[in-house]
Amino acid sequence: MTSKVDMEKLVSLCKRRGFIFPSSEIYGGLSACWDYGPLGIELKRNIKDAWWRSMVQERDDMVGLDSSIMMHPRTWVASGHVEGFKDPLVECKACHQRWRADEAKDGKCPDCGGELTEPRMFNLMFKTFFGAVEEEAQVVYLRPETAQGIFVNFANILDTARKKLPFGIAQIGKAFRNEITAGNFIFRSREFEMMEVEFFVKPGTDEEWLKYWLEERLNWYVKLGISKENLRLRQHAKDELAHYARDCYDIDYLFPMGWAELEGIANRGDFDLTQHWQSSGRDLSYFDPDSEERYIPYVIEPSAGVDRSALAFLVDAYDEEPDKDEIRVLLRLHPDLAPVKVAILPLSRNEALLPMASEVYADLRQRFMTQYDDAQSIGRRYRRQDEIGTPLCVTIDFQSLEDNQVTIRDRDSMKQIRVPVAELRNSLAAKLAGEPLEVLPPGGSYWLGFEG
Ligand code: GAP
Repeated sequence: MTSKVDMEKLVSLCKRRGFIFPSSEIYGGLSACWDYGPLGIELKRNIKDAWWRSMVQERDDMVGLDSSIMMHPRTWVASGHVEGFKDPLVECKACHQRWRADEAKDGKCPDCGGELTEPRMFNLMFKTFFGAVEEEAQVVYLRPETAQGIFVNFANILDTARKKLPFGIAQIGKAFRNEITAGNFIFRSREFEMMEVEFFVKPGTDEEWLKYWLEERLNWYVKLGISKENLRLRQHAKDELAHYARDCYDIDYLFPMGWAELEGIANRGDFDLTQHWQSSGRDLSYFDPDSEERYIPYVIEPSAGVDRSALAFLVDAYDEEPDKDEIRVLLRLHPDLAPVKVAILPLSRNEALLPMASEVYADLRQRFMTQYDDAQSIGRRYRRQDEIGTPLCVTIDFQSLEDNQVTIRDRDSMKQIRVPVAELRNSLAAKLAGEPLEVLPPGGSYWLGFEG
């Protein structure tokens, strides 16, 4: 099975429309680092908001955290990352390109066919220095996962949040990995954002909770518009498990380069809390008031990448369809994720339309992320909004000045409907919440048919 989407086309759309740019581009770019432009940042914020809403706001067994990126260096010794967060690296003796050993399995450089060096282990954590004088300074690491900030705060949260097991701690934040080979656009970068939950459960209930989270997390992607056939679950083989994991599944997505991990859901057992207890001396056990016993909780960890999710949502939403003599390119993004929810498009720049168009814009932008565009023909402006995934466009024409009604145009169906300005906010809100445009206040609107 292959993806219907061409990665180059998507990268080009993202650059052209202001979603994603190469980092430091005026200096030639910085390998595997990316900047999110005006639309990209909205998409990313919407993904994070949707995740936070489903993980924290809508649950009573979850609390949030924002821990620091730099942590005490002993954290990473205890967590096993100093010793174990390594990939085998080989280098081509001819062109000096470096590869992860598993990417050059045939023993020849995948680029030039040259001979490779013996593998040596390469730690993926970025180091920096704490303190004014570098020679005397302490080495600290930029976190390669947000999870450890959660584990070291377990006791703080237990003492303050009044939660009983099972409960979870959720965190969104940046992580850094000095990947040997990064690439495939924002799929693998050296600086990225993670959305992680550490869900603490009673030992013995962990397998059940792992199944629960697999289902929850798959459903989250589907609810936000990802096609089921582009998702699959893959259990890790024993020799593939991370050093902390008892069991792990990847939610794979069918990216343009093939099936690859979108999110990992691991059973970390009591590995991390035990390690930090032993290393810090701070008791990280839990007294269970129901069974009146004390134990170290097990942890189920759904760990998703914001950037990888953004890529998956973009790939899944990308569509091309014939429209008259042209190809209509559109992003069929879920309304919750679309960077711009509503575009206000006066039919022309005619001054007579300006007061009403400005008034509608001023009103709607208080409620929705709204864009105003009066340049070029109306057809071209619709196409532009289609390409950035705007679900609804509102057109103000000369008739609007007469009857106080405006046109709402739907991105996916290109259907148009006429509504009184007084009902516009409600109509847009209903449509963005997934209600069909037909169900509107009595006497309020009527179908115009298709854009044409
Ligand atoms: N705490 C668990 C953990 O770190 P992981 O499978 O290494 O697990 C979790 O990472 C998720 O983070 C991945 O599924 C992916 O979405 C994202 N991720 C990991 N490395 C990444 C990278 N170099 N660039 C972009 N996203 C990455």
